[in-house]
Amino acid sequence: MRTMEPTNPISAASHPNPYPYYHSLLDRPPLYFDKEIGMWVAAHAVSVSQIFADRSCRVRPVAEPVPAALEGRAAGELFRHLVRVNDGDRHAQPKLVLQRALSSLQAPVTDSRARATAEQLLPASLDAEALTAWVYETPVAVVAELIGFSADEQSEMARDVRDFVACLSALSTTDQLATASGAAQRLRSRLGKTLTALQPTSDSLASHILADAQNSGWIDEEAIVANLVGLLSQTYEATAGLIGNSIVALASHRGLWDEVRSRDDGFQQLVHETARCESPVQNTRRFVAESTTVLDCILPAGAAILLVLAAANRDPSVNPDPVRFLLDRPNRCTFTFGRGPHACPGESIARTIAASALSVLESRLETAPLDRLAWTWKPS
Ligand code: HEM
Repeated sequence: MRTMEPTNPISAASHPNPYPYYHSLLDRPPLYFDKEIGMWVAAHAVSVSQIFADRSCRVRPVAEPVPAALEGRAAGELFRHLVRVNDGDRHAQPKLVLQRALSSLQAPVTDSRARATAEQLLPASLDAEALTAWVYETPVAVVAELIGFSADEQSEMARDVRDFVACLSALSTTDQLATASGAAQRLRSRLGKTLTALQPTSDSLASHILADAQNSGWIDEEAIVANLVGLLSQTYEATAGLIGNSIVALASHRGLWDEVRSRDDGFQQLVHETARCESPVQNTRRFVAESTTVLDCILPAGAAILLVLAAANRDPSVNPDPVRFLLDRPNRCTFTFGRGPHACPGESIARTIAASALSVLESRLETAPLDRLAWTWKPS
C-alpha cells in the first residue's frame, strides 16, 4: 500500500518518510502562514533561530498555561511547575538550578553508569520487542540512577514515566489521561520520598539540585519534585528515539558500521549526526504573547508557530550537502535540542547515554547483524 504524502508539517511528523516534504518547506518563505493547521511555520535555519531568540514567543499560550485536558488532574499539577512549559521570572531560578546540576555531571561518569545500566538491561535474546523495550528503558533508567534511585526501582519508574508522557500529546485519549494522572501521583510520591531520605554525603543529581535550590532561595518542594519528574519525562522518548534512529542509520548507510567501529569517537559522532539528520524531535511550538515582527512578518498576539527543527537541520545554508550522513561533518549545526531560553540542558547527557548504550549493543550485534533486524516506526 502506498503511504499518502504529508499535507502539512504536523502530519509530516508521523509520516514514515517526512524528509521529501521537509525539503520542500525549504523552497517556501522562511516564515509563512499555513491555513490548513492555522499556524505560522518556521522551517529554515534563519527563521527557527529568530523565533527561538524572540522573547515575545512563549512555550505556552498566555490564556492556557496548562492544557485544558490536564486541568484538575495530578498530571496538570506537575505541568504547572515544569520549566520546559513555562516562561517568566518564577521559573528563572529553577531553570538555572537544573542547568547547573545537569552540567556538573562529568561525561566519563555518565558514560560508565550508562554502560553499566545498558549491559544490565540488555536482554539475552535480541528480538524486535526486546530490543525496543531496551531502547526505551535504558535512558530513563540511567537518569533515574543519576537522580538517586536504586536499581530495583528503575523498571517501575520507567513504566510510570511512559504512562505519564502519554498525557503530553494533544492526541491523548481519556483513558491515557487517567492512567497518566495515576503515574504522575506515583512519580511525585517516589521523588518526594527520595528527597526526604537524601544522605548529606550523597553525590546524586537530586542532592545537587536540593542544595543549590536552598542556597539560591528556590524553596518550593512541590516544584522541585515536579522538575525532577520533568527530567525523567524529557529523557524518555527523545533519547530512546535518538538510540533507535542511530540503529536505523547504521542499518541504512552502507559502510557506516565499519567506519563507526574504526574510530575512537565513532559512536559519539554517529549519535550527533543522527540527531541532525534524523532528529528524534521533529518540531516544537511557540505562542506569541505580544505582537512581534520576525523576518518582515507581523506575528499578532495569540498567533501559534510551528518550528520544524528536522527541516532546519537540513537547511543547506548551515549544513552544506545536508542529505549526506557524515560522521566528520564540519561545523555541524543542529536545532534538535532547541536554542535560546528553553534550550535543552540535557543535550550532552542524552548524547552520552545514546553513544554508551550503542557501544554496549555493538558487542552483541556482532552475532546478530543489523541487516537482519527488521524495523518499523512506532506511532507518534
Ligand atoms: C535526544 C534526547 C533529547 C532531545 C532531542 C531533547 C530536545 C529538547 C528540546 C528541543 C527542548 C526545547 C523545546 C523547546 O524549546 O520548545 C528541550 C528542553 C528540555 N530538555 Fe531536552 N532533549 C533530550 C533529552 C533530554 C534529557 C536527557 C534531559 C534531562 C536529563 C532533558 C531535559 C530538558 C529540559 C529540563 C528542558 C527544558 C529546558 C527549559 O525549558 O528551560 N532533555 N529538550
